[in-house]
Amino acid sequence: MKRRDFVKLVFGALSPFVVQLKPKEAYSRFSQPFISLCNLAISHEYGAIVQYINHSGLIPDSNIKSILERNMQDEIVHARKLTEILVKEGASPTVSIWPPQTGKGLKKLIEEDIEGENAAIKLYSQILDLPESKKYRDVIYSFMKREEVHRSRLVEIMSAVRKSKT
Ligand SMILES: [Fe+2]
Ligand SMILES: [Fe+2]
Repeated sequence: MKRRDFVKLVFGALSPFVVQLKPKEAYSRFSQPFISLCNLAISHEYGAIVQYINHSGLIPDSNIKSILERNMQDEIVHARKLTEILVKEGASPTVSIWPPQTGKGLKKLIEEDIEGENAAIKLYSQILDLPESKKYRDVIYSFMKREEVHRSRLVEIMSAVRKSKT
């Protein structure tokens, strides 16, 4: 068999697989920005989960510990729900983790957690701005509102910390 015929035969036999090798996202009814931002939100949620585990382990105050744990429970729900949304839309959910922040001292740790919540609020509001988010508007809006609750819990801790130092 000539090389040319061999190549033709092999590629002919492979052609049904070539279609399947395309990224799954290509079949999604959703645009790439929606998928990219949801994946970014998943990795951000994973980062927040690890960060809250670390911070609640570093902070000795049992009341603060339980507040951080309550926030973390919501982040688990958010990460899993976003994963389910991407699966439903034929996209591949990420398992990458946004780098968690740590440090020394209660003030520094709570500041980092507030920053994380601010970033999450911004991210969900960007997702909500996309017209294709309409289908999941209620769920994503509810996530954004939870992030606002998390932030106000942290801000309360921060003002108590500041008061105790004055
Ligand atoms: Fe979250
Ligand atoms: Fe949060």
